[in-house]
Amino acid sequence: MATLQCSSAIRAAPWLSPPSFSARTRKCRFSYRPIVMELQLNPLPFDMDALEPHMSKRTLEFHWGKHHRAYVNNLNKQIAGTDLEGMQLDELCKLGYNNGNTTAYFNNAGQVWNHDFFWESIQPGDGKKPSGELLRLLERDFGSFEAFVAEFKQAAATQFGSGWAWLVAKPTDPLVESKHGKLVIEKTPNATNPLILGHIPLLTIDVWEHAYYLDFQNRRPDYISTFVDKLISWDTVAARLEQAKESVDFSDANIPDDEFEKGWNTFPNTEDEWD
Ligand SMILES: [Fe+2]
Repeated sequence: MATLQCSSAIRAAPWLSPPSFSARTRKCRFSYRPIVMELQLNPLPFDMDALEPHMSKRTLEFHWGKHHRAYVNNLNKQIAGTDLEGMQLDELCKLGYNNGNTTAYFNNAGQVWNHDFFWESIQPGDGKKPSGELLRLLERDFGSFEAFVAEFKQAAATQFGSGWAWLVAKPTDPLVESKHGKLVIEKTPNATNPLILGHIPLLTIDVWEHAYYLDFQNRRPDYISTFVDKLISWDTVAARLEQAKESVDFSDANIPDDEFEKGWNTFPNTEDEWD
């Protein structure tokens, strides 16, 4: 079968586009089959040694070069020749989650989306602090930036086994006509993510052991502190918030907490893990 690469990766500025729109490259195959889309491993948005000494090149060689790559390759094998080929990653996540009865490909789809989002949450340098509207909303919804940091670190440290901690924009119940939003912290096991609940991710930290073991061994709290203090790209988080504001109103409305808690809103903490 003749194979021809027909375009380069569809990749806008990473902090402005959800990974679901940047995670694939068109590949044209001239055969009796129609054109199909095949996922490619997105390049890192920084050099492999750019995060030293906070996250080592060695960690990135394994984490991005082997683990993330394996999720992409496995997902391609699982959806090849099916109606799922060509579907956006976020759609694969939602469809594959299947209301908790996860499909075979869900774990790899979730892990590809989550890792793309994770890399784009990071920037080289020694860390900054949020400012402007993002800082104001963090202070409004958590009491202070320091309180947000403490809660985020706590969520990441207490996620049992493998998983993720997130800052998300959580809209009111989808049935509420005028959706208001607030910032909340969530943690998800294994490959799950806030997309499947209809929440809008703004920031994530990977707390699978493969994310930190080479640099920190079993000291997950040290990895989390380093990530929060030195690696978060607050510019990316602020840009994601601006995108979220297109569908959610973050004005200071007095929405009772139970209005935000409607519907199914918790993640099953399964023990299943894979690598
Ligand atoms: Fe990971």
